[in-house]
Amino acid sequence: TPRVFSGIQPSGNLTLGNYLGALKRFANSQNEGIESIFCMVDLHAITVWQDPEKLRHATRELAAGFIASGLDPQKSILFNQSQVPEHTQMAWVFNCVARMGWMKRMTQFKDKAGKNAEQASLGLFGYPALMAADILVYHATHVPVGEDQKQHLELTQEIGRKFNHDYGVAFFPETQPVIEGAATRVMSLRDGTKKMSKSDPSDMSRINLTDDADTIARKIRKAKTDPEPLPSDAEGLEDRPEARNLVNIYAALSDQSVADVMREVGGKPFSEFKPMLADLAVDRIAPISDEMARLMKDVSEIDRILTDGAARARAIAHPILQQTYQIMGMVGAM
Ligand code: TYM
Repeated sequence: TPRVFSGIQPSGNLTLGNYLGALKRFANSQNEGIESIFCMVDLHAITVWQDPEKLRHATRELAAGFIASGLDPQKSILFNQSQVPEHTQMAWVFNCVARMGWMKRMTQFKDKAGKNAEQASLGLFGYPALMAADILVYHATHVPVGEDQKQHLELTQEIGRKFNHDYGVAFFPETQPVIEGAATRVMSLRDGTKKMSKSDPSDMSRINLTDDADTIARKIRKAKTDPEPLPSDAEGLEDRPEARNLVNIYAALSDQSVADVMREVGGKPFSEFKPMLADLAVDRIAPISDEMARLMKDVSEIDRILTDGAARARAIAHPILQQTYQIMGMVGAM
């Protein structure tokens, strides 16, 4: 039976990239009646130092973001990673299955650790083993994510396979990344070759889900472009990263294919296309940001949802962890 799992770090503002690459698509499985589990991965966030007050706020705001994006906390399971200890317990098992060499190849580690990898936390190095644990402790089969998580999901498959092989079992399922749509990699509004990211020092490089309508419109108006009008078809976007990014965003926000969008806007100058994109973005993002603000007025309700979600998540994860221990020969399990 299919089971969906995905997670987002509560480490700062949610961006349009998080929304189009992940959040917006999360409700699909829930609405198709597939069991769906979503997690604020606070244990991943602390692999780099987080201010405690900000982490608390970002975790609750992320929960509000999930709900405002269409997740129903009754139908889906929404919870905070640290509250389900089976994640960390399974991560230890995977620390012993995964190889140092696999971790060293991870591009996210290389990017985040920078030149001074010796000073990175051990947690940052082992981050992908915890991510594999998040997924496999539920025997999840489908993981909706943006393009940047692809390498981590391949590693998850490798860890599951190695466990199955080392213990001669068919215990962990093959997990499939679900990377779909026109905006699997939303780029910075200031540089079409860089990913839109919550950690970019320039706020003008991204649209935050908490931005108001004026801010969203201004950021799109000021977005970097080249001087030519839009090409007539999708092929013409190939070596024009900024133009392609804005068209991809338009397509994803309006639930159209890039080809359909190009039929509508091909040949238009940016002076015409940008206001169309700004209107669309405001129309789709402002209601989410309003709903997040409304939900944040009563954090006790959010906390209640997360507590309930953690109990339901645990009910699934606990037996799978116990079976894992039993396979490995740990006495006392089950
Ligand atoms: P995180 O918190 O960086 O991002 C959350 C989700 O948003 C997607 N995303 C983007 N998609 C398109 N364009 C962008 N510019 C963009 N930026 C971010 C990410 O691909 C992701 O889907 N390691 C994960 C969190 C995680 C996780 C997991 C995910 C921990 N455990 C288990 C899936 C399953 C991360 O750092 O995502």
